[in-house]
Amino acid sequence: MVKILAFSGSARKDSYNQKLVEIAAGGARRTGVEVTLINLADFEMPIFNEDLEKKEGMPAAARDFKSLLIAHDGFLIASPEYNSAFSPLLKNAIDWASRREGDELPLLAYRGKLAAIMSASPGALGGLRGLVFLRLLLSNIGVTVQSGQQAIGNAAKAFNDDGSLVDSVQQDAVIELGVNLARTLAKLKSPE
Ligand code: FNR
Repeated sequence: MVKILAFSGSARKDSYNQKLVEIAAGGARRTGVEVTLINLADFEMPIFNEDLEKKEGMPAAARDFKSLLIAHDGFLIASPEYNSAFSPLLKNAIDWASRREGDELPLLAYRGKLAAIMSASPGALGGLRGLVFLRLLLSNIGVTVQSGQQAIGNAAKAFNDDGSLVDSVQQDAVIELGVNLARTLAKLKSPE
C-alpha cells in the first residue's frame, strides 16, 4: 500500500499552508492510498546543533519525525515563504531527519522518495520564491520533486471557513497535486 506523509512548514494555529496541504492530502486519499497528515507544531524539535547532537543524540521528537519519513513513500509539503525562502521550522525538521544513526544508509528518510510541493502566502506570488529553494534542497538530498506545484497568493482571502479554496480552479489544482503524487507512487510500486 502506498503511504504518503503530508505536512506544512508552519506551526501557526491558523496556518494557510497547513490548510493547503490538507487539501492536497484529501486529493491523494481519493485514490485509495494511505495518507498521514501531521502538524510539525506537535514535534517541538530543538534548533539543530551538532554539540547537542553529540551530547544527547537525536531528540525524541526529531526521531519520531524521521521515523515517519522513513515509513512513507512520498511527501506532500506546503511551506510558508519567509524572506524569499522556505520556513526555518521546515529546514530544521529536514536537517534533523537527514542525520545518520548507527549503520543505517545515508539519507534513509529521503533517498528514492517522491514529493509534491506547494505554498500559500498573503502576498501576490503565493510563496513561489520559497519553493525554488525547497525543490533544490529536496533534490539534493535524494527526493524527486514532481514538476507540478501550486503557489496560492492573497491567502488571507483565498480560503473558505471549511478550509477549502474559494477559487474552484485553484482547489482542483491542489487536489490534483495530491492525486498525481499518489498515482505516480502507485505506478512505481506496481508497474503493471
Ligand atoms: C513573511 N511573509 C512573507 N510572505 C511572502 O510572500 N514572502 C516573503 O518573503 C515573506 N517573508 C516573511 C518573513 C517573515 C519573518 C514572516 C513571519 C512572514 C508572510 C507569510 O507568508 C505569512 O506570515 C504567512 O501567513 C505564513 O504562512 P502560514 O503560517 O499562514 O502557513
